[in-house]
Amino acid sequence: MSTELVQVCNLGVRFGGVAAVDGVSFAIAQGELVGLLGPNGAGKTTLLRLISGAVAPVEGEIRFRARSINRLDPAARARLGMAMSHQIVRPFRNMTLLDNVVLAAGAEITRAPWRAVATLDRKRLREAALHCLEMVGIAALADCMPSTQPLGVLKRLEVARALATRPRLLLLDEPLAGLGHEEAVRLADLIQRLNASGLTILLIEHNLTEVMRICPRIVVLDNGRKIADGRAADVMADPEVVEAYLGEGAVHA
Ligand SMILES: Nc1ncnc2c1ncn2[C@@H]1O[C@H](COP(=O)(O)OP(=O)(O)OP(=O)(O)O)[C@@H](O)[C@H]1O
Ligand SMILES: [Mg+2]
Repeated sequence: MSTELVQVCNLGVRFGGVAAVDGVSFAIAQGELVGLLGPNGAGKTTLLRLISGAVAPVEGEIRFRARSINRLDPAARARLGMAMSHQIVRPFRNMTLLDNVVLAAGAEITRAPWRAVATLDRKRLREAALHCLEMVGIAALADCMPSTQPLGVLKRLEVARALATRPRLLLLDEPLAGLGHEEAVRLADLIQRLNASGLTILLIEHNLTEVMRICPRIVVLDNGRKIADGRAADVMADPEVVEAYLGEGAVHA
């Protein structure tokens, strides 16, 4: 039996004249931690948004847990077990960190998370949300407001919000961006631990040092197309990758 959790096959989407994602195919097996690299504008975020359902493809198929999910909306995909953390963190500013996660947890249960928070077992939701904050190491800040917290905490909050739906597949869009060296290493360690605990993860990152350190496998996009896919060391030594990506000086990022 296949252990593939997610498969994308010949996936494509255009924005005006731009083929943002162009004929991309790959599969991720249960339990993998895969790095997704590529220069700015390569199509990485768009590929994640296609998988999460935020963007509809013009061609190709997405399969998750052995079924086609092209027709499912993002909420249905979340219920099946996928969650995405976003490149730009946008917590609800007028809610505590805990309530931000409670709201995300509500999305697991109903399409109307606000109603879930108002009517469902609030205690159970809060306990589950607190556990998510514990998993990302910020439970002590549960009652703080996001506006009082540094970016490092907000990045962890974004991961906690994704964990709140108890996903099997975590799609992370640049979780380390903007963090200092130490903080980036600590968050990368956390991502590695989440993977070791059984979560399958697709990780977009420009921090090549950390991607090389924690991702056994790397996929590289350039101009919407997949140009490499394989073991991290092999991919980083691939001349086409060096040309498309490392040539920009990003290796020093
Ligand atoms: N909603 C949109 N409308 C129009 N064009 C878009 C939209 N989203 C992305 N694009 C375009 O699609 C291409 C791929 O963008 P995308 O954001 O997926 O790249 P990326 O690899 O995530 O880049 P970065 O590393 O800068 O985050 C770019 O040319 C971008 O301008
Ligand atoms: Mg992006």
